[in-house]
Amino acid sequence: MSSTINTMLVEERVFGPFDEFAANARISGMEQYRALADEANQDPEGFWRRMAESELVWHKPFTKVLDESNAPFYTWFEDGELNVSENCLDVHLQNGNADKVALIFEADDGKVETVTYRQLHARVCRIANGIRAMGYGKGDRAILYLPMSIEAVAIMQACARLGLTHSVVFGGFSARSLHQRVVDVGARLVFTADAQLRGGRQIPLKSAVDEALSYEGGDIVEKIVVYKRAGSDITWNDDRDVWLHDIEEGQPEECTPEYVGAEHPLFVLYTSGSTGKPKGVQHSSGGYLLWAKLTTNWVFDAKPDDIFWCTADVGWVTGHTYITYGSLAAGLTQIVFEGIPTYPNAGRFWEMIQRHKVTIFYTAPTAIRSLIKASEQNPDHHPRHYDLSSLRLLGSVGEPINPEAWVWYFENVGRSRCPVVDTWWQTETGGHILAPLPGATPLKPGSCTLPLPGVDAAVVDESGNELPPGAGGLLVIRRPWPSMIRAVWGDENRYKTSYFPSELKGMYLAGDNAQRDEDGYFWILGRTDDVLSVSGHRLGGTEIESALVAHELVAEAAIVGRPDATTGEAVVAFIMLKQAAPTGEEAQKIANQLRDWVAQQVGPIAKPRDIRFGNSLPKTRSGKIMRRLLRLVAEGRDIDQDTSTLENPDVLKQFSGVY
Ligand code: WTA
Repeated sequence: MSSTINTMLVEERVFGPFDEFAANARISGMEQYRALADEANQDPEGFWRRMAESELVWHKPFTKVLDESNAPFYTWFEDGELNVSENCLDVHLQNGNADKVALIFEADDGKVETVTYRQLHARVCRIANGIRAMGYGKGDRAILYLPMSIEAVAIMQACARLGLTHSVVFGGFSARSLHQRVVDVGARLVFTADAQLRGGRQIPLKSAVDEALSYEGGDIVEKIVVYKRAGSDITWNDDRDVWLHDIEEGQPEECTPEYVGAEHPLFVLYTSGSTGKPKGVQHSSGGYLLWAKLTTNWVFDAKPDDIFWCTADVGWVTGHTYITYGSLAAGLTQIVFEGIPTYPNAGRFWEMIQRHKVTIFYTAPTAIRSLIKASEQNPDHHPRHYDLSSLRLLGSVGEPINPEAWVWYFENVGRSRCPVVDTWWQTETGGHILAPLPGATPLKPGSCTLPLPGVDAAVVDESGNELPPGAGGLLVIRRPWPSMIRAVWGDENRYKTSYFPSELKGMYLAGDNAQRDEDGYFWILGRTDDVLSVSGHRLGGTEIESALVAHELVAEAAIVGRPDATTGEAVVAFIMLKQAAPTGEEAQKIANQLRDWVAQQVGPIAKPRDIRFGNSLPKTRSGKIMRRLLRLVAEGRDIDQDTSTLENPDVLKQFSGVY
């Protein structure tokens, strides 16, 4: 892990502390941060006991905090009993917040519907009673394949109320992927909608479920509960299909929660691993909810009158933790958005922030970069045309945010007033792990800053030895934490080998490369599989990308390695310019300009050998660049791998020219 060449570390700007923000923050100033972190380091069990007792309502108190006897299969608060939905809803009815708005739903077409905590509680209870009446509950699994809606949140909460383990599949996944998950998790029940509406288009869901269940093993599903969203035509099987409104009808608005042990699996969420088969990441009830609530309060500095908007879909972990569980447990009012950022135009996010007076806005770098590009193409949709004065905090999640995008976000959306919290975490970690506390941590664009209190993160070499500042290595978490992954569903061995390889002696391996700077700040260098080795130098693809997108002509860039007999790997850049993809002489000229730029920003060794231009980069439906496929294109190989998770499989054809 020697001589990492890095542009991010050239980024020396520091923003904050934000005095005005700190004055009213829950955690104010670095001393308060350090006091909490020290408490957690000196007496981890006492710290977590205090947090779990003060933050959650327990039906039966726990006696033991952490059991490490069967490591790495850790258990937390194991003999305690609670109900997650009670902790997200009932608690607010008792503390005078019954009539506070819980969810503000904005539909694709702009229609708005709000529900209070009392109304949401009633809806969840009716749905839960309906499911119970059908004979399902604790010990069963349900698959949810739903559009962003009040119903999606309510159905997740209803499952939690019954101790029914849910597994949400993002509505953009294909019938094949859905089938794989149904079978792997052993679902008896599926919740779906007739169709979803996104960007003015109807995308059928029920027909994908029908198809998924027609494949081998799909007949384990006994019932499909259908939410009528679009009113579109669907095929109907009277023995198997029921309407959501029919199961709710006549059900009482109270539902006794099913109390479960703290380790009871709240949900299983599939995520991609290093192999082709997705992993079912299993989360607990007690430990998961504790961290979901704590991080919402700490990192978003949640306050009673906040209007919180996390733009993620509930099909991803961000939507689980910061829409369905953490933000409701914290009693926030939040936006649930059905549509997409560019419909009816690229001003949609800004217009919604203005209309709903959003105070905390949490989105992904890929969205920010695409909106930067859109606002350059059509200045009418630049954020400066909107009243964004309600905002007080911005957040970023999902991938490294390049300093240019960070600063644009800070200046144009946050008007240089709002701290930006860059939150590093994973499906497996359940909640934020490395993130600033906005009233305390000085910010450096491109760095997710420091571990949250209670988190023991480090950068180590392949044998688990901690590395000095400036050296790139493996990001690990050395001590267990309450919301950590509990199992890979049905595959004990994969859990151990993926996350606790024996060389690392019990540390959790995140699968990301990172390095710390002299201030202890973490800089994520990309997934372990994105790091290139060129002439013996280790280059983070992320750093080269960051340099490229800092160039005035470039909108987005993806870097992959191509095997090379002389240098080990050659750097290949896939680039989307702010203008249409160039060809011929013009392309050659720009390619040379960009090489010089990278040489200047990163070092001559990082100069892309090949540059390929296109008008969009291939992305998964969750917005992640598909480097696996770009690697094949870079090598000139046929794309014989599965492209079904690509938003648009044809996107790969455009990269034929090499400059
Ligand atoms: C990446 C999403 C840099 C990282 C919550 C991680 C990030 C993977 C950041 C997990 C960030 C997430 N900075 N990289 N702030 N946040 N990542 O499971 O590579 O969908 O391992 O969870 O996204 O993705 P996942």
